[in-house]
Amino acid sequence: MITIHWIAADGRATSLQAETGQSLMQAAVAANVAGIEADCGGLLTCATCHVQVREPFAAQLPVTDGDEQGMLDFTATPRQANSRLSCQIWLTDALDGLTVDLPAKQH
Ligand code: FES
Repeated sequence: MITIHWIAADGRATSLQAETGQSLMQAAVAANVAGIEADCGGLLTCATCHVQVREPFAAQLPVTDGDEQGMLDFTATPRQANSRLSCQIWLTDALDGLTVDLPAKQH
């Protein structure tokens, strides 16, 4: 289990414990994290699982592939340099303490 910290657009912080081996989006949906819609269920076709990953974790994640880069152009809240799609982030022990900001809107 690892701990993930979520910062809502209004600044409210919540934390949850999550199993590794699943995507960040799956952990969010299972825990009913407000602000992660994940309309496509992880098929990389909706961009409603947008998060902004705080350092030092942003630099530790594998580089986005072309498909994720393309979908990041369709986020409802404009993408930032640290924007990622949470369905493409796979949880590992190295991500214990992962902190992500949730965008103001996903649609
Ligand atoms: S859940 Fe649809 S792109 Fe991530």
